[in-house]
Amino acid sequence: MMTTAVVLHRSSIVMSRAASCSRRLFSIQQIQQRSSFPAALTSSCFSSSPDYTNYETWHDHRFDDHHLDIMKRQQYYVNGGHGSHAVINMAGSVNDNNSNNSPLEGPRTSVLMELNDRVGALHDVLKYYWKYDVNITRIESRPVTSDGGGGTPKFDFFIDFHGKVDDPNVNALLHSLQQYTTKLLVLDEKEVHWFPRHISELDLIANRTLDAGTDLEANHPGFHDEAYRRRRATLANVALQHRTINECIPKMEYTKEEVETWGLVWDTMEGLWEKYACKEYKSSVNLLKKHCNYNRNNIPQLSDISSFLHLQTNFRLRPVAGLISSRDFLNGLAFRTFFCTQYIRHSSMPLYTPEPDICHELLGHVPMFVDRDFCDFSQEIGLASLGASDEDVLKLARCYWHSVEFGLCRGEDGKHKAYGAGLLSSFGELEYACKERDENEPYGVGEDGMPLRPEIKPWDPAVAAAQDFPITTYQPVYFLAESLSDAKLKMRKYCEDLPRPFFALYNAQTETVHIDRPVRRARGIPRDKAE
Ligand SMILES: [Fe+2]
Repeated sequence: MMTTAVVLHRSSIVMSRAASCSRRLFSIQQIQQRSSFPAALTSSCFSSSPDYTNYETWHDHRFDDHHLDIMKRQQYYVNGGHGSHAVINMAGSVNDNNSNNSPLEGPRTSVLMELNDRVGALHDVLKYYWKYDVNITRIESRPVTSDGGGGTPKFDFFIDFHGKVDDPNVNALLHSLQQYTTKLLVLDEKEVHWFPRHISELDLIANRTLDAGTDLEANHPGFHDEAYRRRRATLANVALQHRTINECIPKMEYTKEEVETWGLVWDTMEGLWEKYACKEYKSSVNLLKKHCNYNRNNIPQLSDISSFLHLQTNFRLRPVAGLISSRDFLNGLAFRTFFCTQYIRHSSMPLYTPEPDICHELLGHVPMFVDRDFCDFSQEIGLASLGASDEDVLKLARCYWHSVEFGLCRGEDGKHKAYGAGLLSSFGELEYACKERDENEPYGVGEDGMPLRPEIKPWDPAVAAAQDFPITTYQPVYFLAESLSDAKLKMRKYCEDLPRPFFALYNAQTETVHIDRPVRRARGIPRDKAE
C-alpha cells in the first residue's frame, strides 16, 4: 500500500466516512500524526493560537458539492505533466477582513491537484509546502473515478493554504508541484452570504429586527395599552443605540408593575425548575442568585449578567429591539453572543407572552449560558450558520429550536429534564414535556388543539433538522439528549458534515472568526455596510 493510502486509512474516523461517501479526508493533525512530515509543515498555523474554543471542529471536513461547484468555475490551470500551461489564476484568495500579522489572517489560496496513486506521492507534494514556508489550512482527497477504470488510480487533492498566487513563495511552490501532478487547478473564491467576521460587525445585524419590538399584533395583550407601547419603544431605542464594543449595556430602571410581573413568573416557575430542570440549570440559577441579583423581587440587569457570563464561559448578551432573522440570530452565537430582548410581557397576562421577552431570556436562556458545554453547543450552531445557504440555515434553526429552545436531556435519575429555554420559562409546557406518563396514555390532539402527549425522540440533529414545529401550541415532538455533552458532540458531528462553504474558527482573544477557504462575502448585505 502506498504511503498516501496508509496516511488516509489509518484513521478510523476517516474510514467510517469514506466508506459511506467514497471521499477521503484528513486533518492537519492526522497528517502530522501519521507521517514523518515536519511539524512546521502541517501545524504552524495552529500552534501559535492560544485559545480556539472549537479547535477540533476545524478539521475533518468532506470534499463537498461546493468544491465541485468551484471547480466548474475555475478559470486557469497548470498542466503539470509537461509544463505546457503554466497559467495561474491571479485572483488568488480573498480575505476581506482587516489585515494584521496573525497567522490565521491574510489571504488564502485553494488548489486542486490530481495525483497518481503511488507510494510517497503525498509526501512528495507536501514537502514543498515546507520548503517554501507555506502554511496549509486544509486538505481533502477523493478518488478520481472519471477515467472509466483501467490505468493508474488517481486521487484529487483539494488543498487550502495561506498566501496569494503572486507571492514569490506560493508561485515557486506551484511551479514545483507541476512535476508531480497531471492537473493543478487554482480555484476561484466563492461568493457567500454576508456574515460577520468580527464581533463589532454584530452591530450591523442586531438592528435588523423583523418587528422593531414595537409593532404589536392586534391580538397582543398590550396592543391597546398606549403606556405599554411607549415603554416598549423606550426599551427598543436603548437596544438600537447600543454598540457592542466598548459600551456597557445601560442599566434599566424597571417599574413596579414590571417587577411584579417578573415576580409572578418567578413564583410560578420556581417549584417546577426544582422538579423538571436539568442539574446544570439549577446550579446556574444558584450562581446567578449570588452574582447577578437573581430573585423574585428584582429584574436582573443585562449588563451584570453579561459581565458574569463573560467571566464564566466567555458568552455575552447583546440587547436587541425585537425579533431578528434566524440567520442573524445564529450568526451572533458564532461570536458567543446572545441577542437578548429587554421588554417584558404585558402585566394583564403574566404567564403568557406571544414573543420572547425578558422573562424568557433571563429565566429560560441565561442560566444555560453559565454552562460551558451548552455554550460550546450553541456556538457550534452559530459557526455553521456563517455564510451558510438558506437551506442550511433553516436546518440549523430547526436544530436550535429542538435543543436550545425545547431540548430535553436525561437526568441523573433517568427522568427527562429540560434544558430548552422555551420549556424553562413556560410553566404549562415544562410539565407537559417532562412529567412521567402512563404508557397507555393516548397521543393525538385534545379539544383545545393541544397535543395530548408528546413524542420523545433521541437527540439526532439530522432528524431534528428535518422536523418542522408549531409556534402557537405545545410541541408534539421533543428530542432527548443523554447529556449536554452528548448534545454538543452530536451537533458538532452534524455541523461538520454539512456542505459548508468554509469552516470557521473563532479566536476568543481577538473575537474574530477565521475561515479556512477563500470566499467573498456577498455585497450589499447588510444594506448599510458598503463593501
Ligand atoms: Fe428563546
